[in-house]
Amino acid sequence: MSPVQSSTMAVLETGSVPCHVAIIMDGNGRWATQRRLPRTAGHMRGVQSVRRIVEACGRRGVRYLTLFAFSTENWRRPAGEVSLLMRLFVRTLEKEADRLREQDVRLRVVGELNAFDDRLRNLIAQAEALTSQCQALTLTIAANYGGRWDILQAMRAMLAADPDLAARPQNVDEAALSPWLAMAYAPEPDLFIRTGGEQRISNFLIWQLAYTELYFTDCWWPDFDESALDQAFSWYSQRERRFGRTSAQLPGAGH
Ligand code: IPE
Ligand code: IPE
Ligand code: MG
Repeated sequence: MSPVQSSTMAVLETGSVPCHVAIIMDGNGRWATQRRLPRTAGHMRGVQSVRRIVEACGRRGVRYLTLFAFSTENWRRPAGEVSLLMRLFVRTLEKEADRLREQDVRLRVVGELNAFDDRLRNLIAQAEALTSQCQALTLTIAANYGGRWDILQAMRAMLAADPDLAARPQNVDEAALSPWLAMAYAPEPDLFIRTGGEQRISNFLIWQLAYTELYFTDCWWPDFDESALDQAFSWYSQRERRFGRTSAQLPGAGH
């Protein structure tokens, strides 16, 4: 039987520092509630963790850091919390864009951005342009992002670019679809981290996480610091990434 052609056949690099780290930053609300503070206080503290983790990843040589900031499902939250999250996003972009450039961090924002108001969309475009030449680390913020949205928008864009494909569905393979995914510029994540204790993907990068190592921690996002990141990296370095093979087939086996 010939192997099914899958992009997961190609991935083999392993090292102690993951090249691409994707994080669901969860637990802001519970962090605040435990301190008898409004949930919004947790989101504000969460921004400090973002700054800390971006810098720590840069120092460790991570090339891509992807943070889930707002899901397509988060619109279901109370209007006051949604608008606070939007204001926080605006304020953070205004305050941090220069600092990102100084740190050689390229900012990219993925998601259905048409849902945001003009001011926020302009700020996103400005911050992306300001940092477009930066190379050390690519920081992707997933905002109004959903994994299912991503697959659907990629499918639509692929068919719009080549309408004849619809008549030849056998030609639609992973290589045809993946360039249209929102994060086509990045390799698939090596390490996924979810803080806050839940063990679910919550419609994050569902296509791209096919062979990612999944790490869950009870630590709430506002408490997630450099040493918590190192614990996740140390766990990651112990994983044997086999991608369907046996241990004995891996490079270095038997040494
Ligand atoms: C994650 O923290 C931040 C966003 C979803 C924007 P939560 O707000 O989900 O915090 P918990 O899960 O309620 O504690
Ligand atoms: C996932 O967190 C989305 C973000 C962190 C932006 P949620 O807290 O919204 O996830 P669920 O709905 O509890 O799974
Ligand atoms: Mg949550």
